[in-house]
Amino acid sequence: LRPPRLAGRRLLVSAGPTFEDIDPVRFLGNRSSGKMGFAVADAARRMGAEVTLVAGPVSLPTPPGVTRVDVRRAAQMREAVLSALPGQDAYVGAAAVADYAPAETLPQKLKKSGESLTLTLVRTPDILADVAAHPARPRLVVGFAAETSDLETYARDKLHRKGLDLIAANDVSRPGQGFEGDDNALSVFWRDGRRDLALGPKTRIATDLLLIIAERLEAME
Ligand code: PMT
Repeated sequence: LRPPRLAGRRLLVSAGPTFEDIDPVRFLGNRSSGKMGFAVADAARRMGAEVTLVAGPVSLPTPPGVTRVDVRRAAQMREAVLSALPGQDAYVGAAAVADYAPAETLPQKLKKSGESLTLTLVRTPDILADVAAHPARPRLVVGFAAETSDLETYARDKLHRKGLDLIAANDVSRPGQGFEGDDNALSVFWRDGRRDLALGPKTRIATDLLLIIAERLEAME
């Protein structure tokens, strides 16, 4: 009998959106439900890995046997990811991290006044790029790319620019896949390769992605 494919591996997964607070009642968020990242964490555990899941604000149960760290803002997600980094074999960044956050979070509820309102937003740290450049960089750094056009061009640009080993791209403009639902389709790119995972349940897509990850880790040995 062969051991499970990810036995002895340690995987760190991020999932869900981040919420960037404007004031005590309002925030900037996005449509990520966390389902894709949670499916990756669950499947990795089933394949024998030791899994840590850093989750943004989502209402999903923790997959059995997975260590979960809950966060809200991008800055908190970065802290949680970087502190869990030492000893990981792979990082899978499935979270939809806000690219911009309000320059300040107001301590009191913002009152209605003029006809328009301008918010000043500042760039958030790029967690994935920071992981890829970190002294405790896992051997395999896997990003996701949520695109609405030119999937391969944008995904390969992120692969290169952020210093990744693999990128899993989804076309979030197509109905029935990407954000929120139970199904997805991914095109996985690496420096000299590509594999397409056809539309299906996120649970199956997660297992197929992890088989590619297992293969890449084995190829490094
Ligand atoms: O959660 P679900 O509802 O199941 O939806 C799944 C999903 C569509 C959210 C998921 O499959 C997905 O595509 N996740 C990545 C979404 C995203 O933020 O893509 P991006 O192209 O904006 O970012 C590229 C990569 O950089 C991602 O791995 C992201 O985690 C990472 N990133 C981005 C910005 C930032 N400040 N820090 C990051 O680490």
